[in-house]
Amino acid sequence: MKFSNSFLFGAATAAYQIEGAIDKDGKGPSNWDEFVKIPGKTFENTTGELAVDHYHRYKEDIRLMAEMGLESYRFSIAWPRIIPNGTGEVNQKGIDFYNSIIDECLSYGIVPFVTLYHWDLPLELEKQGGWTNKATIDAFVHYAKVCFEAFGDRVKHFITFNETVVFCGHGYLAGAHPPGIKDEPKLYFQATHNVFSAHAKAVLAYKELKQYGDIGLSHVFSPAFSVDDNVENKWAERHANQFGINWYYDPILKGNYPDYVLKILEDRGWMPEILEEERLALTQAAPLNDFIGLNYYQPVRVERILGQAEHVEHSRENATGAPGNPSFDGEYRSVSMKDKRYTKWGWEISPEGFVDGLRLLKDYYGDVTMYITENGLGDEDPIIEGEVCDIPRINFINDHLVAVKKAIDEGVNIQGYYAWSAIDLLSWLNGYKKQYGFIYVDHQHNLDRKKKASFHWYKSIIESRGETLNYPT
Ligand code: GAL
Repeated sequence: MKFSNSFLFGAATAAYQIEGAIDKDGKGPSNWDEFVKIPGKTFENTTGELAVDHYHRYKEDIRLMAEMGLESYRFSIAWPRIIPNGTGEVNQKGIDFYNSIIDECLSYGIVPFVTLYHWDLPLELEKQGGWTNKATIDAFVHYAKVCFEAFGDRVKHFITFNETVVFCGHGYLAGAHPPGIKDEPKLYFQATHNVFSAHAKAVLAYKELKQYGDIGLSHVFSPAFSVDDNVENKWAERHANQFGINWYYDPILKGNYPDYVLKILEDRGWMPEILEEERLALTQAAPLNDFIGLNYYQPVRVERILGQAEHVEHSRENATGAPGNPSFDGEYRSVSMKDKRYTKWGWEISPEGFVDGLRLLKDYYGDVTMYITENGLGDEDPIIEGEVCDIPRINFINDHLVAVKKAIDEGVNIQGYYAWSAIDLLSWLNGYKKQYGFIYVDHQHNLDRKKKASFHWYKSIIESRGETLNYPT
């Protein structure tokens, strides 16, 4: 029942969600710094101005992570800290900050797992069209090289992008993330293609440097399953997975796009501009890509919409991940089902869906190295006699780690697991209400840190290498 010694038990965060200090030490503004100023975009108009002040408290936070026994810490670098206006001058103080984080981790033997892009784009680039502008590709590759050169001697795991589907989908279809554009499928597909090109070119640049580390990217992993055996609903399942999985994983792992999706994009006038040199970069980078990171929270249960396609009016509420909406193309809808369990935010809890999804991925892509780069439970944790009793989180992570072990035993190549999140942090749209961490942050008292029940539990699981997980009998 033990995980292998090379398997990494970790936890994750993202810069905008924890750091605060949005204009300190030369950091430039990001698209998020600006977007959250629009009233109604986030819960109670919360912003990341202070977040959990990790910028000033990183030593305390990393010490706690070490005490928890974390073997690896996944965090992201804020691009506008490194290159304040997206291109041009490098901000040495930004480099110094991440050097301190990395060195602090290493001093405890914690493996730093670094995400280069977790959604905070330098504002200047957003103003020039963001990910729909091909100049952003070159800017990213330049930024990535700066990071490889500054940190690559100690960082041996790089993730280029976090969840392209979320920042492009919310950015160009739902209007819920920057740049806040709604219902523009053509821009959405252009943005995704530009991101994949930027990934491919960054992989090629990384390999040229011969730093002998691993590079990949993290996708959200929400496998679609039909609600029943009805042929129409089964069609919806395949259709959803073509758009939700294959469109995202094929260019990274195979170096090209799924024909099924390309045909529809052609028919509907949504085909992005794909340059020949980008096509080449995708093909060349695919075999050099070292791993794929999966962020798994929930599967999607789908049913076909017959007749007139439905249209959804997007709002913050229906962009926060719960089922109940038609797909962007109006072909199917996601539904909640009576016999399933859901979190307070309506996200399905399904470790079984995780195993089924991993089997599906293995069928599609064979023996690919994977890391679970996010998985966790968003909850409002009860405080009983001063203790944070997050028992539902313990059960959630237990069951998903058991699912990971099962998949590994079936031959899926999973090398590590990162719980989301190491510490309570700012949820992009839900403020501080939705908690994910092992470490509680007291917003009433000076942002004091406190260990939750799950902190002690995760420590014991890591110590036993998973042997003390509660496996079903
Ligand atoms: C993911 C995202 C994280 C975090 C998480 C939980 O989509 O990568 O930054 O917000 O969802 O809501």
